[in-house]
Amino acid sequence: MRIVTVVGARPQFIKAAPVSRALARLGIEELLVHTGQHYDLNMDRVFFEELELPRPVLNLEVGSGTHAVQTGLMMMRLEEFLLQLRPRPDWVLIYGDTNSTLAGALVAAKLHLPLAHVEAGLRSYNRRMPEEINRIVADRLSNLLCCPSQQAVENLRAEGIERGVHRTGDVMFDALLYYRDRARERVALEHLIPFESGSYYLLTVHRAENTDDPDRLCRLVRILAELDRPVVWPLHPRTRKRLQELRLALPSTVYPMEPVGYLAMVRLLEGARKVLTDSGGLQKEAYWLGRPCLTLRAETEWGETLQEGWNRLVDLDPDRIREALYAPDPLIPPQPHYGDGRAAERIAALLRETP
Ligand code: UD1
Ligand code: UDP
Repeated sequence: MRIVTVVGARPQFIKAAPVSRALARLGIEELLVHTGQHYDLNMDRVFFEELELPRPVLNLEVGSGTHAVQTGLMMMRLEEFLLQLRPRPDWVLIYGDTNSTLAGALVAAKLHLPLAHVEAGLRSYNRRMPEEINRIVADRLSNLLCCPSQQAVENLRAEGIERGVHRTGDVMFDALLYYRDRARERVALEHLIPFESGSYYLLTVHRAENTDDPDRLCRLVRILAELDRPVVWPLHPRTRKRLQELRLALPSTVYPMEPVGYLAMVRLLEGARKVLTDSGGLQKEAYWLGRPCLTLRAETEWGETLQEGWNRLVDLDPDRIREALYAPDPLIPPQPHYGDGRAAERIAALLRETP
């Protein structure tokens, strides 16, 4: 059996790691194609090394661009690769909701290659998000849909998608369980930041809705200036660029950093008093690690994290942010909404067994 995996952005490297390991354990051949959507050393190679991902057989080297340019280049180069590949793959495997996901879905479907989507069924019901468009198309075209939660299964059912749908659990939870001890062994918090565990807030921001709207980005920076603890902020290159364009100076409460590798991120999360983010991955990681999270958006795809109060939707509303920051921690611990840490194993078995 032969599988072509298409990845290209930071969270996809993390999601692919446990699945690649599970495929290798079953003796399934995996050819990993990197679209080149993310390319800086600390957005790309650091993950391949730390997570011991297979070496890509091909990098499509598309780099950055508008949605159409980036997705179009990926499609052209991926199609060329898949057309000449012999034997043909049994599956094309895609992850999440990025432009790399969309390109993989469209090319596979048109070449009549079976398509499997990991992290199927997520919805924000906000079509102004590029990710929502990517997810809808990927789910519609997939033959095997691996859902991280029951809600995702139900979202698909509401759209009339039931065939090939499986609740596998979330591979990001698998990754966290697998790498957490390694992170503790290899990364010391005091080598990363000059703050003690439990004394700082951790912030990440990269969504277009927050970075590309100058009013919102300015509002965020103003809010940060008022916070009562230092804010550790590993800056996504997109956000760094926008801050520079707007010549926005960061307040003294902020400790900016380059993007960090996954092991360092796990340590930063564990040491954080609270997490502020618009990242999908970080909302869940904060939840699993029992760190209260403020989501800087109006909606979330990961509604289960809101249930016990560990995650709160605060958008960029200063009052809601203040209230959530000073609220006591929830009494009920985080619940196992996203599986048991063996999602990757299930996905590999489904790929092997699904005709
Ligand atoms: C992409 C995904 C988003 C995902 C995020 C994870 C889409 C539409 N968006 O957003 O769903 O949550 O990845 O991080 O696919 N840049 C660099 N170096 C890099 C990569 C990007 O400098 O290695 C800069 C470029 O200026 C680029 C900008 O970041 O234009 C945005 O990159 P892009 O991949 O288009 O989108 P992300 O915001 O990273
Ligand atoms: N992450 C990381 N270093 C960083 C920021 C994030 O390793 O500097 C990890 C994070 O722990 C999570 C994933 O990258 O596993 C989330 O990626 P991102 O926030 O870029 O995308 P999203 O999850 O929103 O699609």
